[in-house]
Amino acid sequence: MRTAIYPGSFDPITLGHLSIIKSGLVAVDRLVVAVLNNPKKKALFSVEERIAMIQQSALEIDGESRVEVDSFDGLLVDYARKKGVRVILRGLRAVADFEYELQMASMNRHLGPEIETVFIMANEDYFYVASNLIKEVSNLGGDVSSLVPNAVASRLRDKLGA
Ligand code: PNS
Repeated sequence: MRTAIYPGSFDPITLGHLSIIKSGLVAVDRLVVAVLNNPKKKALFSVEERIAMIQQSALEIDGESRVEVDSFDGLLVDYARKKGVRVILRGLRAVADFEYELQMASMNRHLGPEIETVFIMANEDYFYVASNLIKEVSNLGGDVSSLVPNAVASRLRDKLGA
């Protein structure tokens, strides 16, 4: 059974992330969506809220629940070793993502040569969608409901009054 870890901040999960999860499940049998617990980075949603939103969103795309949602802190490669998983999944939108992703994948290869990072292209409908933009637009009263899962749209409204 092939498993991959899909790590990220997911503050909050977007339809872009969800498209990566959907495509990832074509490539592997199980996905562990892992939310980074980083107390130094100010997040809009708590880790618990982010996990709940991912769980609800994943149910919409995969009834058999091949998706596990978890959180981690510390190094990603240490977490992958602890889980016994040797594949890290990341999504790519445009060229702009490439440099950051190359740097992270190379650092992770340095730290954990036995672990491979695999990239999947995001659905082109969501190339411009990023959690930070979702929060900014939502905060300013813009409508992002067609860019995030239902579970996120309602929570954004509760949190930001959007
Ligand atoms: O959604 P993001 O913010 O682009 O995700 C970044 C993430 C969580 C994948 C990355 O910051 C990470 O893996 N952090 C854990 C710390 C770590 O392992 N750092 C060294 C690898 S660069």
